Amino acid sequence: MHCTKQILSDLIWTGADDRRLSCFEGVYGVPNGVSYNSYLLLDEKTVLFDTVDKAVAHTFFDNVAYGLNGRKLDYLVIHHMEPDHAATIEDLIYRYPDTAIICNAKIKTMLAQYFDYDMNDRIQVVKEGDVLNTGKHELTFINAPMVHWPEVMMSYDKTDGILFTADAFGTFGALNGRIFADEVDFMHDWLDEARRYYTNIVGKYGPQVQMVLKKAAALDIKYVCPLHGFVWRKHFGDFLEKYNQWSTYTPEVKGVCLAYASVYGHTENMANILAGKLSDRGVPVEMFDTSVIPASYIVASAFRNSHLVFAATTYNAGIFVTMENLLHDIVAHSLKNRKVALLENGSWGPMSGKLMKELLAKLPGTEFIQEPVTIKSAVKEGTLAELDALADAIAMDINPGYFAKKEEAPAEAAAPAPVVKAEADVDPTAFFKFSYGLEILTSQLDGKDYGCVINSAAQVSEGDLKKVAVSVINKNNTADIIKKAGKFNVSVLTEDAPFDLFKHFGFQSGRDTDKFADVTYNDRLANGIRYIPQFTNAVFGCEVIQAIDLGVSTLFIANVTEAKVLSNAPSATYAYYHAHIKPKKQPAADEQKEGWRCTICGYFVEGHDLPDDYVCPLCKHGKDAFEYVPAVTVTKKKGFICKICGYFEPFEGDELPADYQCPICKHGRDDFEPAEQ
Ligand code: FEO
Repeated sequence: MHCTKQILSDLIWTGADDRRLSCFEGVYGVPNGVSYNSYLLLDEKTVLFDTVDKAVAHTFFDNVAYGLNGRKLDYLVIHHMEPDHAATIEDLIYRYPDTAIICNAKIKTMLAQYFDYDMNDRIQVVKEGDVLNTGKHELTFINAPMVHWPEVMMSYDKTDGILFTADAFGTFGALNGRIFADEVDFMHDWLDEARRYYTNIVGKYGPQVQMVLKKAAALDIKYVCPLHGFVWRKHFGDFLEKYNQWSTYTPEVKGVCLAYASVYGHTENMANILAGKLSDRGVPVEMFDTSVIPASYIVASAFRNSHLVFAATTYNAGIFVTMENLLHDIVAHSLKNRKVALLENGSWGPMSGKLMKELLAKLPGTEFIQEPVTIKSAVKEGTLAELDALADAIAMDINPGYFAKKEEAPAEAAAPAPVVKAEADVDPTAFFKFSYGLEILTSQLDGKDYGCVINSAAQVSEGDLKKVAVSVINKNNTADIIKKAGKFNVSVLTEDAPFDLFKHFGFQSGRDTDKFADVTYNDRLANGIRYIPQFTNAVFGCEVIQAIDLGVSTLFIANVTEAKVLSNAPSATYAYYHAHIKPKKQPAADEQKEGWRCTICGYFVEGHDLPDDYVCPLCKHGKDAFEYVPAVTVTKKKGFICKICGYFEPFEGDELPADYQCPICKHGRDDFEPAEQ
């Protein structure tokens, strides 16, 4: 029986969950299962995006038949030929013999490698940028080599802003009846599995992922449809930021991933003592026994943390087997730029420290902290001082404040210091600790409607006639309007409010534009003033009883004359807006050095000449597969960026003028920080 999920009115998920798979790709345990995603677009032409693993073929074919509801399947778009998505292509073609296949040339080659059935006469090869019109929808194609195989491509549906991303932005874990990432607490409950998926499956190919992210940055993306895991329609920037960190090998946290391999517990004892000393110094530690925890979890932790500590006993004059396997795995995934410390044990000939160092030295940007700490058989008194010194060195990197506090600690029994009243200092960042909501403030004057975004509404008095206060920047047009009109409405924004709504009411002025000219709603309270019926949970109608000029802004105190609940969606806070709604910075186009790029996998090698016998270290293709890339110099301008709306003001000086005001959101100099663009 079919089991589909609706994504849009003309797009359905035709994939399936697999909870019986013990090892994804034969290596990675998936205790929470995995989903194989396929999507069916029902336009004037019907389009299926990818198939599924053979393990879930039965449900998949039921889903496709149900979705088509008797229509023929016009197109199959293939993004990736790995069999977890491609194994059922041949069966699909037997069932739908009129289907044309849309794919790139590399995928066409792989189709012939995997299947005996000759599909050549139905294949339409597309290149990057080619367009396929299916009626209402317009699809373009984007090559994404090595994310995760060399043939991978993505599709972008310009009509609805959907990016079909192949393996990118996937995660381990079955969907369990959900389809959208916002139906679960993804960043809390799913991020670890998403990281384990990314780092182990695609982690080696960070530069190639960056190339694709830069292409995607130019698109207006409203939905992201990967081949595993959830569809994204909200707050995608949170996940994108993680992808940027992972693919640039940037640690997510300052902390230690401590993995040990111990036969009889003495090496483990040394690792535990170090973990305790690190913890005493305020250093976070994630700890793993390599004999128990599969390498994929430790690889993910190594990507997450800034510092790595490996402790291993010597075994057969080498590294104990589970640690040796782990280190080979980390080296194979090309982790970069980590600080590493080593602990070794060997009852008669300790060798594991030297050998671990030789292996990890292959990783670019590895910095070793001190020489390995060595024990022979068991930890002795003298080892403790060495572990203290190592813990100090790591803590100096991760939590230097620990040492400052130690030095500042008052001497025992010292007389209490006299209280000296220094001149008060106002730290502007202290104000960020207040918790604010976000609202749209509306008013009306001479029959025209006005509105702006504020973060200052609060109830200030109880009683029969409840009172609220709002503060509005004087340079903001709405402040003038409320002074004259004497009344306003406050619509409380919810967490699902899109950034476009903030842009519309926050980043333009009512002096220059009618913000209500093109809106599709016309909801008003009894006071005749508009309110915002979407992405809000309450609205208050207010009559001004006092206006206090505070210099930069005016505080309006008002009686509440009407109030109603619009929805039960949670209110958006200012902190939530910054964390989840405001778009994250996209990777900018970098300065490009002269060199050669592999057209198969995207690997880049610097230099003017490429030797004739050169072989790509990633995909093993020869010089013929490389194309020359000339140097590009990007001149970046110095300036300041608005932390509220992202506006960049080119400026050479050290500080913006004191009376500077953002031309977009009207915030002042204090809300800007130095930047280059
Ligand atoms: Fe999910 Fe690379 O296949």
